[in-house]
Amino acid sequence: MSEVKRVAKLEIDGKTYELPMHSPTAGPDVIDIRKLYADAGVFTYDPGYTSTASCDSTITFIDGDKGELLHRGYPIDQLAEKSHYLEVCYLLLYGELPSPAQLEDFESRVTNHTMIHEQMHFLFRGFRRDAHPMAIMVGVVGALSAFYHDSTDIADPWQREVASIRLIAKMPTIAAMAFKYTIGQPFEYPRNDLDYASNFLRMCFAVPAENYVVNPILSRAMDRIFTLHADHEQNASTSTVRLASSSGANPFACVAAGIACLWGPAHGGANQACLEMLQEIGTPDRIPEYIARAKDKDDPFRLMGFGHRVYKNFDPRAKVMKQSADEVLELLGVENNPTLQVAKELERQALADPYFAEKKLFPNVDFYSGIILEAMGFPTSMFTPIFAVSRTIGWISQWKEMIADPQLKIGRPRQLYKGATLRDYVDIEKR
Ligand code: CMC
Repeated sequence: MSEVKRVAKLEIDGKTYELPMHSPTAGPDVIDIRKLYADAGVFTYDPGYTSTASCDSTITFIDGDKGELLHRGYPIDQLAEKSHYLEVCYLLLYGELPSPAQLEDFESRVTNHTMIHEQMHFLFRGFRRDAHPMAIMVGVVGALSAFYHDSTDIADPWQREVASIRLIAKMPTIAAMAFKYTIGQPFEYPRNDLDYASNFLRMCFAVPAENYVVNPILSRAMDRIFTLHADHEQNASTSTVRLASSSGANPFACVAAGIACLWGPAHGGANQACLEMLQEIGTPDRIPEYIARAKDKDDPFRLMGFGHRVYKNFDPRAKVMKQSADEVLELLGVENNPTLQVAKELERQALADPYFAEKKLFPNVDFYSGIILEAMGFPTSMFTPIFAVSRTIGWISQWKEMIADPQLKIGRPRQLYKGATLRDYVDIEKR
């Protein structure tokens, strides 16, 4: 915790309480209310945590007004352009960019854990073929704790390290198997001579009957999508992983909880919802109708891929994603993709509309990612599983940081109770 430089004064019923304030290395100062209940007998109220810092962290920083995202201090656009996913994983997990030898060692450790226990194949076969791949992932990732007992003791730093590597390595295999299962094709085993993104594409698109050669354009685009989604400080799924882990639960179970949270359309599920919305709009002439619906208070419809709790400016990931969509579609010879045309025109019209300007609603990471994934050949149901693969490093880096924190306490929010007060039980015959 940072040095206390200032205090905030809170007056309740004529009595003043001094609350220490902490200055972060970046971002607004934080009022420390940990002793408030003990000293003043009151709670604070902040549903949705719009003004509450739940932890201290050194991993990721977002300046929502500037539209800036830093991982360990490095801007996301530099990482997307110059780095690659496994190097970013190393950076997030260990705090610094690796030397060439450290990177080689890390990549070889990840590569050696890409297969999953053979018996886990039977688990997949227990699901219905039409299951959503996210439903399969929630179950199978949680089940890793039933297969890898030797890395579930969170008190042992070595087991924590092995669990981290296993999760990074096995997540693409599990997501690809979920995909193969739902389309009725045989599972493809991982190939350790391929890089992380190429291996994932191969496990998704290769079939035993044919030779599959990974397209380097698609592999680079896939890697960039992984990189852009790697971490995003205390978002809903990461906070879920932290909260679940605060009880001491094993990392596989906690990451399964994170996957469940990610699935919702306000979070990771927005990429699927966004592409489906763009396809439903279909042609640019229908855009005004959808913008009008998004602005209508009586219509629950929202422009998917627009708005963010933290960014009140362009999501920096959306900028890279838009550029990537242009590049990938051009290289694939489908630059006249109608969905991309609708997306660009929708972005233009929404940004010119006072409703979106006043509420500071800009395109987020999900606005363009689906267009690239669709061009690669993925169905919309695979978009959120791909987000889950990417975000696994964020979840486990934040988990690792939390477990090593001597201040760790079980997460246990309080409430503003509005229910009945004490009353006597009424026997059923008298009700
Ligand atoms: N379309 C239309 N209006 C919107 C939108 C939108 N996409 N997003 C926010 N608003 C309006 C909202 O109606 C509210 O208006 P008012 O103040 O008049 O009630 C105002 O803007 C503030 O919205 P909020 O819901 O209070 O803001 P929030 O911080 O709780 O929600 C959000 C953030 C991302 C859930 C929301 O913007 C949203 O639902 N966006 C669409 C879903 C989406 O794209 N999610 C992906 C987020 S980025 C990736 C990720 O986190 O996984």
